[in-house]
Parts: sequence; structure tokens; C-alpha cells
Amino acid sequence: MESYGPDETRTADGRKKVCIVGASGKLGRHMVRHALDRGYEVVGVCREQSVAKLAEFGDRITVLPGATDDRAVVARAVDGCDAVLTVLAPWGMRHYASGTAQAVLDLAPPGARLVFSCGWHITRDGKDVYPLRLRAFVAVFGALAKLARVVDLDDQVEACRRIFASDTRWTVVRGSDLEEGESQGLPVWSRHVGDPVLASNLTRRVDFALFMVEAVENDALVREAPAIVGRLTPSALAHAPAAPADAS
Ligand SMILES: NC(=O)c1ccc[n+]([C@@H]2O[C@H](COP(=O)([O-])OP(=O)(O)OC[C@H]3O[C@@H](n4cnc5c(N)ncnc54)[C@H](OP(=O)(O)O)[C@@H]3O)[C@@H](O)[C@H]2O)c1
Repeated sequence: MESYGPDETRTADGRKKVCIVGASGKLGRHMVRHALDRGYEVVGVCREQSVAKLAEFGDRITVLPGATDDRAVVARAVDGCDAVLTVLAPWGMRHYASGTAQAVLDLAPPGARLVFSCGWHITRDGKDVYPLRLRAFVAVFGALAKLARVVDLDDQVEACRRIFASDTRWTVVRGSDLEEGESQGLPVWSRHVGDPVLASNLTRRVDFALFMVEAVENDALVREAPAIVGRLTPSALAHAPAAPADAS
């Protein structure tokens, strides 16, 4: 594949080009909206049976149907992109999340911003301190889902291990519990679950997506794994009076 630096990838009209891998899901569609709002050219990858979920965007985006771990599809989708935003979804038992992450790591243009989504349960350095409720949920849900061969949380862990080891310009955004609703603005973040600012453990999904898209232009987040929480939650209001994207 031809290689590009970030400044060489602008489209003919000078817009940034971003690829959203997993565009048809709830998080993905919010990311498409935010990316279009910023004037980015958007290429989305989603499963063939989900293409209709992107109908609202009409010809404002390019959609490439396919599994997000299909390397041929990912290669076409990320070609010439300044940034790739990837929903890591640990579906099934065939290493879907790690296959998706590996394809993006291998095939995105050198220098592109790579932003991945996951949950608080992912830890980069083992220094996160988890609430008992989250530990219990991950243990019970993880075991049952694996037994039923529906979801493999361990594969999302493996996907993130590969991302953390890579020398690309990655960010792994770790989402708290999510809720629907109007945007409250950019979530606040911290490096470790257990930090007081994160205690409320709740973020609007629309704002999770906002944080992912904002990360494209925020070099301070390169090789960071921010754990996020809604900026209007009690813990954020109590402990993060400063700039929204400051780490505590
Ligand atoms: N849900 C939460 O409470 C929560 C909390 C923290 C972090 N997160 C993170 O947020 C991100 C989005 O997750 P979400 O739960 O909110 O759901 P979501 O945004 O709807 O995304 C789910 C993704 O998985 C795909 N998918 C669904 N069934 C699949 C299957 N059988 N095989 C392959 N792909 C399938 C969906 O594609 P289709 O459109 O094709 O179905 C979609 O791209 C994930 O990275 C997750 O780890 C979620």
C-alpha cells in the first residue's frame, strides 16, 4: 500500500479524511455525526446487514460493507485517512476485536491518528482500582458470555495489549457506564479508574463519541488510555473544575 504522512492525506478540497470502523453501531453513528459536523470526509466500515443503519447520512459518507476484521475491507477503508476511529467489539469467539485492531494497526497510513473505544475494564498499567460492582460484572458477565460463546472480553484485552505495544499514534478511550441523552459536552478524563474525578461512572454515549472524535486533533492524548466520565456528573463537578480534557 502507498504510504502517506498525515499532511499528505487531505482530500482534494483540503478536508481531513477519517475512517470509522464499526460505523453503524450506536457509538459509531454518533461518531459519524460529530465527524461530519467538523467537516471531515468520512468513510465508514460496517457489517453488510447493517448498512441501512447509516441511511440517514445518505451520500455524505462513503460506506464499505464488511466485517471489521476483514483486512481487505480495512485496507480500502483506511487508505489515505488522517485518522481511524475504531469501535472495539469483542463479539464471538473468533478474535474479532483483536483482528480488527491488528488490521487497523497494520494497514492505516503511517502517522495517522488511531483512536479505539473500549471500557473501563481495560487496564494499561495495572494501576486502576475498580469498584466492586464493576469487578463483579466483568467476572460474571465475562464468564457467562464466554460460556455462551457470544462475547469474548479477553479478546478485547488482547486487542488493547497489541495497541499499547504499538508505536503508532494511538489513543485508547475507556468508556464508563453509558446512558443516552443530550450532549453535556466533552467528558473529563483521568489515567486511572479509581481516581476521584471518575467516581460517578457515567457518560452520555453521544459524549463518548465526542471524546473519540476530539482526540483526532488532540496530540496530548497520543499513547494515552484516558478513562472518561461525563463532565456534568457529580464526581466531575467536584474534582475537575479545570479544562475539560485535563488529566487529574
Ligand atoms: N455498552 C456499554 O455500556 C459500554 C460501556 C463502556 C464502554 N463501551 C464500549 O463502547 C463501544 C461501543 O459499544 P456499545 O455496547 O455501546 O455498542 P454499539 O455502539 O452499538 O457498538 C456495537 C458494535 O458491535 C457490532 N456488532 C454487534 N453485533 C455483532 C456481531 N454479532 N458480530 C460483529 N459485530 C457486531 C455493531 O455492528 P452492527 O451495527 O453491524 O450491529 C457495532 O459496530 C465498545 O468499544 C464498548 O467496549 C460500552
